[in-house]
Amino acid sequence: MATPIYIDESSGSDIPGSAHGTETSPYHTLAYALFTSPDAPKFLIRKDPNSPYTDPTQSALKKAKKTADGLVKKAKKAEEAALKEQAEEKEAREKREKVLEESKKVAIVEDPALPPATKAKLNALEALRGKRVRVFGWVHRLRVQKDIIFVVLRDGKGFLQCVLSGVVAQTYAALTLTLESSIELTGTLTALPEGKTAPGISGKPEPNGHELIVDWWKCIGAAPGGEEAFTNRLNEKSDPSILSDLRHLVLRGETSSSVIKLRSQLLAAFRDTLTGVNHGCMEVTPPCLVQTQVEGGSTLFELTYYGQKAFLTQSSQLYLETCLSSLGDVFCVQESFRAENSHTRRHLSEYTHLEAELAFITFDDLMTHIEAVICETVDRILANPLSRSLLYHLNPTFTPPTRPFLRLSYVSAISWLNEHNILHPLEDPLTGSPILDPETGKVKMVKHKVGDDIAEAAERQMTDIIGRPVFLFGFPKELKAFYMKRMEEVGEGGEVFTESCDLLMPGVGEIVGGSMRISDSEELLAAYKREGIDPGPYYWFTDQRKYGTCEHGGYGLGVERFLAWLANRYTVRECCLYPRWPGRATP
Ligand code: 4AD
Repeated sequence: MATPIYIDESSGSDIPGSAHGTETSPYHTLAYALFTSPDAPKFLIRKDPNSPYTDPTQSALKKAKKTADGLVKKAKKAEEAALKEQAEEKEAREKREKVLEESKKVAIVEDPALPPATKAKLNALEALRGKRVRVFGWVHRLRVQKDIIFVVLRDGKGFLQCVLSGVVAQTYAALTLTLESSIELTGTLTALPEGKTAPGISGKPEPNGHELIVDWWKCIGAAPGGEEAFTNRLNEKSDPSILSDLRHLVLRGETSSSVIKLRSQLLAAFRDTLTGVNHGCMEVTPPCLVQTQVEGGSTLFELTYYGQKAFLTQSSQLYLETCLSSLGDVFCVQESFRAENSHTRRHLSEYTHLEAELAFITFDDLMTHIEAVICETVDRILANPLSRSLLYHLNPTFTPPTRPFLRLSYVSAISWLNEHNILHPLEDPLTGSPILDPETGKVKMVKHKVGDDIAEAAERQMTDIIGRPVFLFGFPKELKAFYMKRMEEVGEGGEVFTESCDLLMPGVGEIVGGSMRISDSEELLAAYKREGIDPGPYYWFTDQRKYGTCEHGGYGLGVERFLAWLANRYTVRECCLYPRWPGRATP
């Protein structure tokens, strides 16, 4: 007997390929069964898997036949459309191949009869409007509209819209141009009609009032298309670890390059502020290879230096101190290294450390100086059109801080945290490691007490609630480095505090750490002893107290943290060229 075709009106399927019209894999409708198997000798249909299969009624068959005819027509139409599309695609491909083949015959030469073109960077074009210019750069954006090619050129200094039409848009290079190819162009720099815009000099394309009408151009280095195309290597959805591996390509983006440009402007502004009349500091360049520690042995990167033990510097402070008696107030912008296994958004293994040291000052002078340097530097950034535009592109709601900054003593901060119910992890007094709550399995949180190190999370919560820069000052001696000067007054429980301060910024937390330094050599020798530091290698640092000591103090500012605050970046990793953190030193 010929095999019937089965239909189950509740559990069957009409999705092509998902059912076979058998008893165990029935179709969903009779119409579909007739459509797929018009010559089948028999059809069996049931309402649902609990009913028996029966013959369909004549009227059901008639109705289904009508629908099946419709399906046949639809399928025929779809087939015809697919064939048409294929033919059109083939035609288009052949046409494109022909055009490409033809385009190989189109050669363009620079017309010697035209006025000479002035070579210029894209941020220096305004004075050349109406003239012929020669520009070089990379294809940042590409748009083809009818027979016109619009290229947004990027040269790192700015952006320029270049319009290729006529023969210059018909060469093989023009028809196969890809994003990120490097090109050279000449043409007339034409002012844009009123109301029209083209990309400008800062990161974000903004009006710059002109575009290049190209009369000649050439491709210097074609970037690949297809699989290897730039946009296939990375895009906004790429995984963070891929973005880290491809940092060299990420940097070509508008946002990343703007951050690095702003960083350059920021460093220049800091230098101008520090060397300017108000502060008169001299820049020095201390070494990175050192044989002494500054901020505790646990974060030192150790290396072998011609058979001796040496470290990558944690801070240039000790060297800056030695400069006071020869150069007066000094500062440096130097890399510092911290071997802390911190994966937070504000920790780097290598960071740019702006440090300054000032002689014959008081603790109050120190905080006033830090505040002034920061505010004057921000003023400089805002006064310069380029850095101002970069800043507002990255951080549209930026508002400069107002002086004076809030000053909050460590002891008051402990009370403040408790009043705001911001808790502290309970720590084992012997090991310092957090104690877990056996019921919840989470770290047990308790009120803060004097002597506690304020944890990063608590510090950030506090800064964000206060919402403006805060100097936390007067930390307990035990929490701070060996070189810090102690405060005269002691705490209620006899605690010894130091003339130390951290400047906290909303969104980032600590950006500056500073202090007055022990100026007395006996006191310094006692501090080495207390911390278990061999004074031998520090002879040059101790001599500073021996040969004409002075009250002095200084600070270190994390440039990446400052930039993260200024440009409203989520992490310090975005704020340097090639960030280093635990496990990453590539590219
Ligand atoms: O508070 P710190 O450790 O202070 C010192 O190193 C002093 N010797 C500086 C001085 O007085 N000359 O570090 C100072 C600043 C911090 O406030 C922070 O901004 C930054 O350096 N910093 C880091 N930035 C990024 N990643 C890290 N791992 C950092 N550690 C410190």
